[in-house]
Amino acid sequence: GDGVFKYYSSGEWKKSSSGKSVPIINPTTRQPHFKVQACTQEEVNKLMEEAKTAQKSWAKTPLWKRAELLHKVAALLKEHKVPIAECLVKEIAKPSKDAATEAVRSGDLVSYCAEEGVRILGEGKFLVSDSFPGNERTKYCLTAKVPLGVILAIPPFNYPVNLAVSKIAPALIAGNSIVLKPPTQGAVAALHMVHCFHLAGFPKGLISCVTGRGSEIGDFLTMHPMVNCISFTGGDTGIAISKKAGMIPLQMELGGKDACIILDDADLDLAAANIVKGGFSYSGQRCTAVKVVLVMESVANALVDKVKAKVAKLTVGLPEDDSDITPVVTESSANFIEGLVVDAKQKGATFCQEYRREGNLIWPLLLDNVRSDMRIAWEEPFGPVLPVIRITSVEEGIHHCNASNFGLQGCVFTRDISKAILISDAMETGTVQINSAPARGPDHFPFQGLKDSGIGSQGITNSINMMTKIKTTVINLP
Ligand code: NAP
Ligand code: G3P
Repeated sequence: GDGVFKYYSSGEWKKSSSGKSVPIINPTTRQPHFKVQACTQEEVNKLMEEAKTAQKSWAKTPLWKRAELLHKVAALLKEHKVPIAECLVKEIAKPSKDAATEAVRSGDLVSYCAEEGVRILGEGKFLVSDSFPGNERTKYCLTAKVPLGVILAIPPFNYPVNLAVSKIAPALIAGNSIVLKPPTQGAVAALHMVHCFHLAGFPKGLISCVTGRGSEIGDFLTMHPMVNCISFTGGDTGIAISKKAGMIPLQMELGGKDACIILDDADLDLAAANIVKGGFSYSGQRCTAVKVVLVMESVANALVDKVKAKVAKLTVGLPEDDSDITPVVTESSANFIEGLVVDAKQKGATFCQEYRREGNLIWPLLLDNVRSDMRIAWEEPFGPVLPVIRITSVEEGIHHCNASNFGLQGCVFTRDISKAILISDAMETGTVQINSAPARGPDHFPFQGLKDSGIGSQGITNSINMMTKIKTTVINLP
């Protein structure tokens, strides 16, 4: 056809009547690589109607049948990992090994979700009235978890498949229908993932995938009256959405500034390895990336030397070659990162490497002696630039972590486990990793952001529960 990937609604691949398309720019070549439809508001209305209708019968589909279909799509995602990975490489410059891992991880998430859904949705509560003062045992109360209805899923560019299924699978096992608005960068990988759901044979209209710039079609979607829940993962766009959405449940996973606190008794080799993996995997484009190191002055020189040595070994280049560091997702992102570097330079940070950029490719950069007046101490680069702040007390480290607007994850390296737990209790973040870098996975662990990092909790079980509501039936005995 015209080389524009179709959008998906009522069980079919369709061209938009808008006649417009959105280019997906390959971050490595900075040339258009794919094109997707710019869907219209009328097309959104139509697929919303179908989602609402299809959900009614889907909610009556037995749990085991829903689970069976999810297990089918899990297998298909793994079978299709090569073409899906190829899209991730070209659309978001994800190293090809990591790209294949994302597809397999997504299959595993869907399967686990099917099993967990059968377990937790297959049970409710039975209450009797006389446990409350003044009541006889004349009332029996049955509770069940029932679906919300139509769920709008909006994932970010850095995991356009895994962070899509982390919303779609819980929604479906709970009996909801799904409208997916994938990120523009990563949209074709997402469409390929949707094709796996299509091949699995889900009912027509239950799942749809609408493409188009979030800045153009986004508000119409998030303010649509037929949407009963929004599950969003991304940047501060989510804060704006939370102000526009109606009275519906919102699941928001937003930015992070994950701090890594290094105490003077830390295993510095372990810490350095985790700082490099945590700070530079996928070129730092992970919400859970290590985004600021807070190291006790007494061990700072030793730690920085170890990190520098490991940074020097990172390969920089093409995602096709599995380079450790690949081009960041867009030119505007690269410019934003550069702005933070220039600010740090002007304010006197120590550059452990020369700053180097070619197009969207930025060489890994460790900044030492960073101070609180520098933007990089607080802002999220979403790139391969890592600030080190030297502290003289644990309290100073915790204070810096808690002064951030973000509260996603943090980590602490120490051999004193009781001290680590006290620090974890003090850090105002959704998760604290002890002696390892922050991470969302494994995907059945609860994953939540506090403050500007989000609302609600993900992780398979929490996502399933967040996509249900309670139905109570009371039997009144004569
Ligand atoms: P983003 O720019 O906020 O976009 C996220 C999603 O929202 C994309 O699908 C985007 O579509 C869509 N969108 C944009 N404007 C919208 C609007 N007005 N209404 C509805 N949807 C809209 O974030 P990103 O650049 O994809 O990802 C980077 C950011 O996400 C970073 O801040 C990172 O920390 C955060 N993130 C957080 C997590 C987490 O789990 N907490 C995980 C990954 C990323 P378009 O692509 O078409 O604009
Ligand atoms: O991008 C934030 C989060 O989704 C990253 O997941 O597994 O790389 O920590 P993970």
